[in-house]
Amino acid sequence: MILKIDGDLNRYYVQSLCMVFFPGATFSESELPGEEVPEVYVRTTADGEGADIAYVKMKLNDKVCEATERVMPNEDITIATRASVAVGRAIFAAGKELLGHIPPWGILTGIRPAKIAGGLLADGRGIIRTKKILRDEYFLNPQKAALAVSVASQEAKLLKKIDRKSCSLYVSIPFCPSRCAYCSFVSYTTPRLLSLIDEYVDALLFDLTDAVETIKALGMHLETVYIGGGTPTTLDEKQLERLLSAISSHIDTSLLTEFTLEAGRPDTITERKLEIAKKYGVTRVSVNPQTLNDEILREIGRKHTAEDFFRAFELARASGIRDINVDLIAGLPGDDFKSFSETLDRVIELSPTNITVHTFCVKKASDALRNNSGIYSLASQDAAKSISYSQIKTKFAGYKPYYMYRQKNSVGNLENVGFSLDAHEGMYNVYMMEEVQTIFAIGAGAVTKLVDYRAPGEEGKTRIKRIFREKYPYEYLREHERRRTNDVGAKPPLLEAAVEFFSDDNN
Ligand SMILES: C[S@@+](CC[C@H](N)C(=O)[O-])C[C@H]1O[C@@H](n2cnc3c(N)ncnc32)[C@H](O)[C@@H]1O
Ligand code: SF4
Repeated sequence: MILKIDGDLNRYYVQSLCMVFFPGATFSESELPGEEVPEVYVRTTADGEGADIAYVKMKLNDKVCEATERVMPNEDITIATRASVAVGRAIFAAGKELLGHIPPWGILTGIRPAKIAGGLLADGRGIIRTKKILRDEYFLNPQKAALAVSVASQEAKLLKKIDRKSCSLYVSIPFCPSRCAYCSFVSYTTPRLLSLIDEYVDALLFDLTDAVETIKALGMHLETVYIGGGTPTTLDEKQLERLLSAISSHIDTSLLTEFTLEAGRPDTITERKLEIAKKYGVTRVSVNPQTLNDEILREIGRKHTAEDFFRAFELARASGIRDINVDLIAGLPGDDFKSFSETLDRVIELSPTNITVHTFCVKKASDALRNNSGIYSLASQDAAKSISYSQIKTKFAGYKPYYMYRQKNSVGNLENVGFSLDAHEGMYNVYMMEEVQTIFAIGAGAVTKLVDYRAPGEEGKTRIKRIFREKYPYEYLREHERRRTNDVGAKPPLLEAAVEFFSDDNN
């Protein structure tokens, strides 16, 4: 796009404002021959009363919109300059007129929108002031500013007593009984690939020993274990028992604050699998319908019905496992506000301890896109309404938002939020999101995150190192075989790297 600035302004800041309305734009100061690109002109001046004035003109095709905003010298601005606030307001006003919408998250484009709120609260700004700064200087709509502050306050409460010697373990199970149309997670789903599961569990157990020895060598202790997917309950009863019994023979699961088996797909959940999970100390499972609209479930290829979800949920409840999470997606192709709100209402009636509401995300690699199946009539207004509804409805049902993140290509640029009843928060999710705890990860696609955490005030000194395992199960198994047969010196992948990281001079 063409961006012309007249006045003393940071060009990068103005570009980031423009990109809220024109994501992915590249910038030039002059016209490009033969191309019809958006044009933005920005001018700042001051008047005799000392007010900062911004004038913005935006042009797209033949439509031109203009806006003028003024910030008075006595206006309470904290972080930004008055001129930049005036420019932000003017760009948002012109952009709204030109494109018909206001981006709800203002100029916050990162994946963790509660981070800025957390920083402001930690600096002692207080809740009211922080909300005001988010609205006035980052241009969040009031609802999103309030959400960011709620999540940040809740996280601060949960992370008050973080122990630098505690850590978590993630176990990756990238297998599913079939592929859902919208999903681009790496996951093996065909019978030939599913037949690798036994071999895969062998490899996992090899890596489990490495992780446990690493934790011992570092003098750390495990706080949470998370078995995630894919769909971990794709493992049959025997395979699941083999995995869980090995975990519990290496780890005293009674000392964990949380042990999650992210079951997920209702069609993989059986009474016996839950019994096994409970026997080996699992405290949290997910039972995910995504939607309770059977027609949409069919469209998105979930291969289960709403009825299957209720059956699996009741089994989970009867198993005595402490926490049950339910994942939903707002803005699914073909879904609308009515169907989403009915789904959420029915889920809330079941009183799960956790509800996670995702915003539908178009993923390039997903089968639905590849097949161009025509199910992508993205009703972003309905998604926005659904997301707002989920935040109000859960609040009145006694849930609090406790972690949040945004993903690329989500409908309406909206967020994913985890809600919890008090004292049932999925702490692994918080550690994962906030990068305040080391997470050892084993299995294909697993990413170990070594975190040398420094408390608020010193967080700039926190060091993080990521160790990536092979992305696909086939590659992972091949690498495992090489290690097992001593080809690469049989060095465990975690121990050496972790010891080196934590003995770094900066420590
Ligand atoms: C890694 S998936 C695993 C869960 C489990 N396999 C299942 O499908 O129930 C975790 C969650 O991500 C969310 N998710 C997956 N693909 C998504 C997409 N394209 N847009 C939004 N959310 C998505 C779903 O809510 C899903 O339950
Ligand atoms: S949504 Fe869940 S069950 Fe479906 S393919 Fe993705 S990971 Fe597997």
